[in-house]
Amino acid sequence: MKVSSFLYFAGFGMETILFRRKKPILGTVIVTDKCNLQCRHCSVNNITAVVHPFHQIQEEMRQLYDMGVRILFFCGGETFLWKDGDRGLRDLVIEAKRMGFLIVNVVTNGTFPLDLPEADLILLSLDGDRERHNAIRGDTYDTIMDNIEKATADNICFYMAVNRINQDAIRHVCLTAKRMSNVRAVSFNFHTPYPDTRDLALSREEKAACCETIAQMMGEGAPVFNLKSAFPYLIDNSFPTPCHQCVVIENGKVSICGRCIEVPGLCEQCGYFFVAEYTLLFRGNIKIMLEMLKTYLKYI
Ligand SMILES: C[S@@+](CC[C@H](N)C(=O)[O-])C[C@H]1O[C@@H](n2cnc3c(N)ncnc32)[C@H](O)[C@@H]1O
Ligand code: SF4
Ligand code: SF4
Repeated sequence: MKVSSFLYFAGFGMETILFRRKKPILGTVIVTDKCNLQCRHCSVNNITAVVHPFHQIQEEMRQLYDMGVRILFFCGGETFLWKDGDRGLRDLVIEAKRMGFLIVNVVTNGTFPLDLPEADLILLSLDGDRERHNAIRGDTYDTIMDNIEKATADNICFYMAVNRINQDAIRHVCLTAKRMSNVRAVSFNFHTPYPDTRDLALSREEKAACCETIAQMMGEGAPVFNLKSAFPYLIDNSFPTPCHQCVVIENGKVSICGRCIEVPGLCEQCGYFFVAEYTLLFRGNIKIMLEMLKTYLKYI
């Protein structure tokens, strides 16, 4: 990370903590909800299947920038399906950098060729070993591994949503991240139980066991892009929600924290690690602050 970006984030953090500000810093643009997969745990694919045009997304980026957002995520649906004429996802990343976003990340299912060196991080969803991943995501594991091997940059970070199907595969994903030269780290979330996927939710005891495994892997040198200090809060779902420093925009509609804010009762069962990490950080939790500093400087 550039020194100037680091100073910007440090200033934002101090202001937010001292004056209890609710201004956002992290924003997500949903470029389309169209997807080539229908994963077992996912409730947000192919609801409209509309691919939003470049000028709309450009306007949404500008809106987020004007709100103060400097860390931008492109998400979907499947982001690599996005196109508008000759323009593809890479043009969106380049445009975001041109506008002045300091960090630009993309979330993908990894089934398309990974030629995106301009992105700071490509968060690539890997949900276990071949058997468990394919049980959730269809027969995609081998294609994804092939795409990672052939990727044109080493900016990949695995993104694993841990649920009842793949909770025993955490170790395997950590070791795969450690082994693959194009992969920088792995970042975890717990399954967030939308009404149609409640059967995949982990119990408190299962979450505790997962966190123990992740902490053990961190101790063994696995590159984990999460904060151990947030684990007790994630296990008990005792972190504050929603995250006021995060916003999502989809087809012109802005939501605080996530699109999921509209699902009654879901925030109390939120499994997203970034929500715990960011809300605790901006409440001034010193342990989180120090660990975040160490972790972010290592992986971005
Ligand atoms: C909705 S997908 C969109 C991007 C891309 N299609 C992909 O799969 O990475 C973004 C991330 O959300 C995760 N996800 C989907 N439903 C979830 C849920 N109910 N709880 C936690 N994570 C979830 C996916 O596993 C994926 O890592
Ligand atoms: S690839 Fe992503 S958007 Fe598509 S169904 Fe799977 S989790 Fe949902
Ligand atoms: S806190 Fe609520 S809105 Fe935010 S990600 Fe979790 S479930 Fe979604």
